[in-house]
Amino acid sequence: MWFFYSPNVIYGEEALDFLENISGNKCFVITDKIIEELGFLKILTDKLEKFGKKYEVFNDVRPDPREEDVLKAREKCISYAPDLVIALGGGSVIDTAKATWALYELPESTIDDMHPFNSELYDLGKKAKLIAIPTTSGTGAETTFAIVVSRYTNNVWQKLIQAHKGLIPTFAIVDPIFPMAMPPNLTIATGFDALSHAVEGMISNWKNEFSNALSLKAIELIFKYLPIAYKDGTNKEARDYMHQAATMAGLAFGNGNVHIGHTMGHCLGAVFHTPHGQAVGVLLNYVTQYCLNNPDEKDETIEIYAKMAKQLGWAKWDDDNKKAAYTVIDKIKELQKTVGFPNKIQDLGISREEFDKNMDIMIGLCFQDASGVMTPRAPLKADYKNIYIHAFEGKDVDF
Ligand SMILES: [Fe+2]
Repeated sequence: MWFFYSPNVIYGEEALDFLENISGNKCFVITDKIIEELGFLKILTDKLEKFGKKYEVFNDVRPDPREEDVLKAREKCISYAPDLVIALGGGSVIDTAKATWALYELPESTIDDMHPFNSELYDLGKKAKLIAIPTTSGTGAETTFAIVVSRYTNNVWQKLIQAHKGLIPTFAIVDPIFPMAMPPNLTIATGFDALSHAVEGMISNWKNEFSNALSLKAIELIFKYLPIAYKDGTNKEARDYMHQAATMAGLAFGNGNVHIGHTMGHCLGAVFHTPHGQAVGVLLNYVTQYCLNNPDEKDETIEIYAKMAKQLGWAKWDDDNKKAAYTVIDKIKELQKTVGFPNKIQDLGISREEFDKNMDIMIGLCFQDASGVMTPRAPLKADYKNIYIHAFEGKDVDF
């Protein structure tokens, strides 16, 4: 038995108009100040007014949302008592909204209660529906059941990754009007986050036919449309397909999971505050090489990536599987070059001295990160260190 969980997905131009069809008149809108300054909040509130819905706005979400932000939103949400909770923003906003929604529905609970074994979370939605409206094309948070919230413990900001299927939003409204305003660097960082969900997802231990179908299509769309969206952010077709690709990759990630690219990216980000898309995007090739080099003869990574490369037209159907599988590395390097995405950690402005000084902290955090268990090849401490060093220096992983 396996499963496929998804919100109701409404996508394409004017998807926002679907709000009219969702019952509920009192909306608690969760967003951040940048979204407000970009005029996106007004686009949403104009629609809410047009459809006769009342609203209250919480705009205090910060990047890498902290537990205290969630608790602040929870207080306001409880006192407003909405029947719709609407998240308008990127992953930080949507994660904050999922947690706020759950704490509004179950006011006796805490963030620590949002774990896969808490059956109460399956009953969310009795007080309000959760509508997620992504403004970037990358995180897939509008489709997933995970929440990443930072908590300061032991002198470091630790990213708590909480997860439960009940936390999946009721609706995901994927309207390309919002990502249109992303500057090129945010377009590529979020695009590489989506790509990482899809590429890592293909070989994760939870991979399945549904998630792999979505990963494959997302990879095809990202390779075609990310360079166009990067060069011309006003290209509607490219923005629309990138937005769809990010949601598809999010569904793949939500139902098939990711592995050590995200583990190592989370830990790099926890220490150096590297934006999530940059962190996982820069590590993607190194962890993929590490998995391709798996000495376990039963491992399927070569076979899976070879088939994927052939399906995407990157290799010929009669090519040797090993050769075909490694074209995935070449294609990712090529895409990084085309859109000017950093291909090694030292290009992220992190000094070698600081990197080495924090190595043990990062590795320690890796062993606490839930996505690590999804890897087909589990690194021990020495391998984590070596992958980080190779990724820092930009050297191919040959072990
Ligand atoms: Fe991600």
